[in-house]
Amino acid sequence: MKIRKIIDKQIHEIEFLKINQLEKKLINNISNRDVLIFDGNISKNNLVKKLLKKFSKRCFFIKGQEKIKNLDYYSSLIEKIIKLGVERKTIIYSFGGGTLGDLSGFLASTILRGVEHVMIPTSLLAMVDSSIGGKTGINSKFGKNLIGTFYLPKKVFICSDFLKSLPKREIACGYAEIIKYSLIDSKPLHKLLIKRSKDDINKIIKLSINSKFKYITDFREKMKSKNSRAILNFGHTIGHAIENSNFYKGNLKHGEAISLGMILELEISSLLNYYPGKVNSLIEILKKYNLPINYSKYVNKKTIPSLIKKIVFDKKVINEDIKFVLIGKNGGFIKKISIRDLKSILYQIK
Ligand SMILES: NC(=O)c1ccc[n+]([C@@H]2O[C@H](COP(=O)([O-])OP(=O)(O)OC[C@H]3O[C@@H](n4cnc5c(N)ncnc54)[C@H](O)[C@@H]3O)[C@@H](O)[C@H]2O)c1
Ligand SMILES: [Zn+2]
Repeated sequence: MKIRKIIDKQIHEIEFLKINQLEKKLINNISNRDVLIFDGNISKNNLVKKLLKKFSKRCFFIKGQEKIKNLDYYSSLIEKIIKLGVERKTIIYSFGGGTLGDLSGFLASTILRGVEHVMIPTSLLAMVDSSIGGKTGINSKFGKNLIGTFYLPKKVFICSDFLKSLPKREIACGYAEIIKYSLIDSKPLHKLLIKRSKDDINKIIKLSINSKFKYITDFREKMKSKNSRAILNFGHTIGHAIENSNFYKGNLKHGEAISLGMILELEISSLLNYYPGKVNSLIEILKKYNLPINYSKYVNKKTIPSLIKKIVFDKKVINEDIKFVLIGKNGGFIKKISIRDLKSILYQIK
């Protein structure tokens, strides 16, 4: 099964494969001039072992985590790859979560001014989000994802068998983004999430990708459409502020912060009379997928002023208004809200 989308006149192709089909494809296509980059946490996977055996000299293992998305890591890896030998026809194959994928994509887009990149996302978040849309990049010491390129992978192969070894908490984080798609766009996805059958995972991934595709038409949003890319930020305005805040020294993961952000942003949609449903039904779904729902530790009278400061900084607010994603009866839409109103709404929720 394949899904395709034209972005900036280029084809973005995603192919779903079973592990044996993926094996055949890779073993037949990878050549000795290619480079393979694997997440260290999948080194026990049988396919990875076979590829390592066959292409041992061309393989790199890196433990996926946010800190690999930095200039030092990038520079040391790219030099090692150049030393190994690359040519115009070299293809970079990357197997990993979003951090490894973002780094490898950036690397592929800059090595020899761009060689082909084939992505094999192995975390749920990477399958439904980071491998889709062609954003690559690393972090600057001044902020996340500030160094990067728009660069579509030549192919994305999705093989849900990789999820068997993914830790439960990482699975939950992937579901946070999936639940987001189900709110902003997709009723069929919502139904599947309620049904909660393991057999539906490929359908769930496919519907999620199709949702993301609706909101990306071109890289820099030259064509303003009502399906603006910004709608994909539902749950992320408050979620990011929670994620970046230092109120609580616990290690909240991105998807977990988004879970809390979605509850609050849906609550706001409801308070402003746009969302006709019950916020409680979202809370039930989040619980089912092992995501946190208790935001009061992070959002309370004491923390609201600094959360607002974070939001203002994050959104580079001009004239005191922020573009906020709300949910109405037909899904996500953008509404300008003043910082002052946002603050008073947050106090109401608390
Ligand atoms: N490019 C984009 O459009 C885009 C979109 C969303 C997020 N992102 C980026 O994605 C990153 C987050 O991605 P992530 O959540 O996948 O994080 P990650 O890459 O850190 O992976 C999470 C953890 O799962 C492990 N892992 C991955 N696959 C595994 C498997 N099959 N079995 C066992 N362990 C496995 C990794 O080693 C890591 O420990 C962030 O840096 C974020 O900025 C990018
Ligand atoms: Zn996210």
